[in-house]
Amino acid sequence: MRSRTKTLSRRAALIGGLCTAAGLGARQAFGQARRDDRTPENESHWARMGVSLEGTTALVTGSTDGLGTEVARQLGALGAFVIVHGRNAERGEQVAQMIRDADRGDAVFYRADLASLAEVHAFADHVIARHDGLDLLINNAAATGGGGGRRTSADGHELAFAVNYLSHFLLTHRLMPLLDASAPARIVNVSSLGQTAIDFEDVMMEREYNGGNAYRRSKLAQIMFTIDLAAMLDATRVTVTSLHPARSMNTQRVIGGGNEPLSTVEQGAEAVMQLAVSPKLAGVTGVYFNQLNEAQANAQAYDEEARAKLWALSMELTGITKYNTT
Ligand SMILES: NC(=O)c1ccc[n+]([C@@H]2O[C@H](COP(=O)([O-])OP(=O)(O)OC[C@H]3O[C@@H](n4cnc5c(N)ncnc54)[C@H](OP(=O)(O)O)[C@@H]3O)[C@@H](O)[C@H]2O)c1
Repeated sequence: MRSRTKTLSRRAALIGGLCTAAGLGARQAFGQARRDDRTPENESHWARMGVSLEGTTALVTGSTDGLGTEVARQLGALGAFVIVHGRNAERGEQVAQMIRDADRGDAVFYRADLASLAEVHAFADHVIARHDGLDLLINNAAATGGGGGRRTSADGHELAFAVNYLSHFLLTHRLMPLLDASAPARIVNVSSLGQTAIDFEDVMMEREYNGGNAYRRSKLAQIMFTIDLAAMLDATRVTVTSLHPARSMNTQRVIGGGNEPLSTVEQGAEAVMQLAVSPKLAGVTGVYFNQLNEAQANAQAYDEEARAKLWALSMELTGITKYNTT
């Protein structure tokens, strides 16, 4: 597998002129707010805009199902070598095969349980050993709520915090040298409109557990991480953004929870793809998008003291002494 990406010509016009810093005025690609009744744009839109991902490598965590699968498919259809990730090897191999079977793109599936920091390290080691660059990192995987009570990761951390946020904090750190080697590269953190302030007296929710709040706190943590990481990175090399993709998409997370879908994975993928490949968003970093437009997140995201606490805690829990910024 190593030779596959190594032999590709690096940085072949990644995402059509991505290097140029965008004017930050109109932070949306499609020029108007989305009307829910229109067909979402997909890879054909980006191809018409001259975007080609030939020669690039993209990793989408949690791409064995739901939104991640559709994003992985579209990235592959634009020519990317896609690293499909999840725990379910059967579904993962099917998604990778679907990408390989299309006219453009290539793919491989790597299995890793993000509920274990040791597995995150092993996953990162695997990617680093087999690929010499990473142009796009889409941190998308998320634990489903589950009807039961509080669950913990292999490391004893509250599960939503561990899988949705902490694993990606560590994975991004480990893969930063690959991202920097592929500059300009982009990181997209798939968050949610559902955000709840973190209680720093009870981050792991040992005193008072609520599954919905656990999920919403982990999603806000991703946004806080985005803001701090962006401030540490050279935006001409690596950018990092976060977003709410779409409301109640038709995925297992929603349907399995007994809820009526209100939107589709294609609508969510449109929003993720905009942040991942739009030439208009080159150089744009640290921002949060609600679907296609820049938006304000929960107030705690802009509380420097809260972000500093989260950062320090995340460093401690992951055992990182110096976060990789190159
Ligand atoms: N659905 C919505 O309406 C909605 C709304 C707002 C935001 N979002 C966000 O959008 C993203 C995708 O949501 P979705 O609805 O597509 O989710 P989904 O259908 O439940 O898919 C989740 C993905 O994450 C993977 N995953 C879950 N736990 C994992 C673990 N411990 N280790 C490794 N991979 C794991 C799953 O793969 P395996 O089963 O193979 O492990 C699957 O590929 C999430 O970040 C979610 O928070 C979704």
